[in-house]
Amino acid sequence: MNVLIIGSGGREHALAWAISSSPLLGELFCAPGNAGIAEVATCVDMGVNDFDAIIQFCGEKSIDFVVVGPEDPLVNGLVDRLDAEGIKSFGPTAAAAQLEGSKGFTKDLCADYDIPTAAYGRFASADEAKAYVELHGAPIVIKADGLAAGKGVIMAETEAEAEAAIDEIFGGKFGGAGAEIVIEEWLEGEEASFFALCDGVNAVPLASAQDHKRVGEGDTGLNTGGMGAYSPAPVISISMTFAVMDRIVKPTLAAMAEKGMPFKGVLFVGLMITRSGPQLIEFNVRFGDPECQVLMARLMSDLLPALVACHDGTIDQIDLEWNDDAALAVVMAAKGYPEAYEKGSEIKNLSEAGAAEGIEIFHAGTKRDGNKITAIGGRVLAVTALGRTVSKAQARAYQAVDAIDWPQGFSRRDIGYRAVAREKKSA
Ligand code: AMP
Ligand code: GLY
Repeated sequence: MNVLIIGSGGREHALAWAISSSPLLGELFCAPGNAGIAEVATCVDMGVNDFDAIIQFCGEKSIDFVVVGPEDPLVNGLVDRLDAEGIKSFGPTAAAAQLEGSKGFTKDLCADYDIPTAAYGRFASADEAKAYVELHGAPIVIKADGLAAGKGVIMAETEAEAEAAIDEIFGGKFGGAGAEIVIEEWLEGEEASFFALCDGVNAVPLASAQDHKRVGEGDTGLNTGGMGAYSPAPVISISMTFAVMDRIVKPTLAAMAEKGMPFKGVLFVGLMITRSGPQLIEFNVRFGDPECQVLMARLMSDLLPALVACHDGTIDQIDLEWNDDAALAVVMAAKGYPEAYEKGSEIKNLSEAGAAEGIEIFHAGTKRDGNKITAIGGRVLAVTALGRTVSKAQARAYQAVDAIDWPQGFSRRDIGYRAVAREKKSA
């Protein structure tokens, strides 16, 4: 089977790495890819939203299956285009991708089908939005409706902050994504990421994970795409897995099928584990990054047939095996990220650092220049380690981070701290 992966992040490197060992694989391509992906796949210089070029390439190279990594091409309808051309793919149609593309759509779906989530209101004008804030008081959460690269959520501690956020969003800070606002109750609890492979009707849960979204240690500072992750997430017990499947994943699949937009692909459930049980914070319609890196590090089964089963409607026949070891990924980013940062610095000693036992270094914003690897993005590497415990995986990951010679980069030093503290307590 010839496979094309769409994307260029650490998530796509982890997917390419997992798929590259499948006995079902013929040739593996990735568009546009990065320097790490180039070691396991042929990179093709095409943009993720250049649908005409992608379709043409699939014809030229007899691509049998396309795996779409990021949300943008999904929301823009890449799977619909591939379907129309008779090319199989992994991911939802544009209609089903509204689960990530429109927060208002998802909140209404939760209300209609009794899926647990924070109380909310949807607003198209600042006056109504502010009246809602006045009625409910602070703290409160203000969100731009559409895709805003993870930055469209403002956790307002005071009513003044909430009003400023409303003015900023309607003032055009997030462009079209801010044409509508969702305002939510602020949920208290511990966050976790839950993933399920879905074929439109059935779903299979994957291992759980937790990520660190903030740039600073102790989960402080600006929000980022994710500075590190680990799997499994101790808060997701077996009974919690059943609760999330029964109360959130299965009703969502049934609702989407009833609406005539069956969901196929990976449903990423952003959860708040509250005192009254799991509540949905948001859906994403693709793998998390860097959650995907830790999931792939632990997955022992062949990934490719599981992804194909999502398309074919046969996910109920798939049984996935996971390594009992924990996995932990530390993101190395360019200094300045998530704000302005420089590009073009050289990263040295990568192959030596990556050769250590239990270590896999997934690339995001990297490029090869002859023998040199240079940084060309904000998040640049995800140094991923396996270990008997989260503490052991953490120690291994930081050993590899310290072996990488890249003065222009930085990482958080405390990835996994909650799980490590739990392990110490129970030891
Ligand atoms: P989202 O883009 O919707 O996932 O929101 C980004 C982050 O904001 C989440 O990972 C949470 O940390 C936080 N967040 C969003 N909505 C809520 C909420 N209703 N209550 C508490 N925290 C939230
Ligand atoms: N790490 C969070 C995300 O991929 O959205």
